[in-house]
Amino acid sequence: MQQREILYEGKTKQLFQTEDPELILIHYMDTATAFNNIKLATIENKGILNNKISSLVFEYLAQKGIRTHYVKMVGDRDQLCRRVRIIPLEVIVRNVIAGSMAHRLGLEEGTKPSNVIFDICYKNDDLGDPLINDHHAVALGLVSYDELNRIYAMASEINHVLIELFDRVNITLVDFKVEFGYTPDGEIVLADEISPDTSRLWDKGTNERLDRDRFRRDMGRIREAYGEILARLERVIEKQ
Ligand code: TMP
Repeated sequence: MQQREILYEGKTKQLFQTEDPELILIHYMDTATAFNNIKLATIENKGILNNKISSLVFEYLAQKGIRTHYVKMVGDRDQLCRRVRIIPLEVIVRNVIAGSMAHRLGLEEGTKPSNVIFDICYKNDDLGDPLINDHHAVALGLVSYDELNRIYAMASEINHVLIELFDRVNITLVDFKVEFGYTPDGEIVLADEISPDTSRLWDKGTNERLDRDRFRRDMGRIREAYGEILARLERVIEKQ
């Protein structure tokens, strides 16, 4: 599949057109960012690790019946995906309190809430992706209530599948962020990526953080942590 003009350049990925108007190429770079681009670095081979991790996770989700934009991996840093219209919402699912929620509400990181928590943020770089609620999302014209219900149902299903997957490799799925998009025929599918850049993954035995918090918090050994996630997933997910 030939790569054509660039469609979009994000913080860690570039999107290219292909000769098929329904397919795009996603290229994973080695850039690492935190705090809305205030902290920037390059972590050698992170792009390769995240491409492989996200590809494995999306393949696994597809095996479990979740509809996604993912088609196949086509190189160390590249994957072919269906072109979708991204819904400008970041949907965050939290199984354990950590990060911004711990900070905002004065809660201890690692606390297990009695229920799964869903947050939504408005994807808007100029505003710093602010936390919003369902009514804001509808009033802003981003989605309807009905679409939100479908999005929450999919996020919940994804959470169940991934909790069970990570449990098998001795990892707690603390939280993660997902994005959704519309296919040309109007179906909502999971898009973007799921990797240690977009989730919190703690070793169950030691609570060691194996995700982007190592970069945010200057903990070092980032590549090793991402490599560990990939190695553990490769043990349990069969490549298609
Ligand atoms: P938070 O603690 O910063 O709210 O993040 C919750 C989870 O969502 C964490 O796993 C990181 C992920 N996330 C992203 O990947 N991108 C984002 O822009 C945000 C706000 C969160």
